[in-house]
Amino acid sequence: MAGRDAARSVVSGMRLGLGTGSTVAHFLEHLGARLARGELTGVVGVPTSVRTEKAARELGVALATLEGLGALDLTVDGADEVDPGLDLVKGLGGALLREKMVAQASDRMLVVVDDSKLVGRLGEIAPLPVEVVPFGHASHMGWLRDLGAEPTVRAGGNGHPYLTDNGNLIVDCRFAGGIEDPVGLERQLARRAGVVESGLFLNLATEAVVAGKGGVRRMRRGSSP
Ligand code: A5P
Repeated sequence: MAGRDAARSVVSGMRLGLGTGSTVAHFLEHLGARLARGELTGVVGVPTSVRTEKAARELGVALATLEGLGALDLTVDGADEVDPGLDLVKGLGGALLREKMVAQASDRMLVVVDDSKLVGRLGEIAPLPVEVVPFGHASHMGWLRDLGAEPTVRAGGNGHPYLTDNGNLIVDCRFAGGIEDPVGLERQLARRAGVVESGLFLNLATEAVVAGKGGVRRMRRGSSP
């Protein structure tokens, strides 16, 4: 429902950021269907993962690069948590770095979620994914514990660590009771050499489509929930 609703927000000529995840997959299907019916023309998208790139190609969505387009009109992406101010935790799908780059290049970011993702405080349910370069990655663990996290290097298949599309590792950080100061935490993470990016998306989402049993509703940054 959220994916279908978000696809209705797209108009001809838009430069889109295409997020990653199972909810975005529905958005892409509905976008592809609108393109196939000729309801939309001149739409081009920047995919945030190899997985999204493949799906978009199969659905006939024209693709471009971020550097080729420069600025984007709208990014549609999922989230793992959405707080009442529309700040997010993202990255359980591992695509957080490209997702954040695309979101920051966009005029608007529309988040597609179901209502199980709504939280009072970020980190309440989901761990915070932190992308780190492989070199010396274990050296971050004690530092992350000092910040109040319980860090775990994300596992991939066959006993190997999970690798992002950028060849990096993810450290999933659980915060008991949630993240007290997301802005301060983001600042600390940004200053740490070897940390590439975190799944804290602060001040980026402008609106959300939230699907629940009663249907779909929109949330907008700056308006009360
Ligand atoms: C991908 O890296 C994530 O940020 C996803 O956007 C997020 O995990 C939501 O995915 P689902 O729609 O599959 O829950």
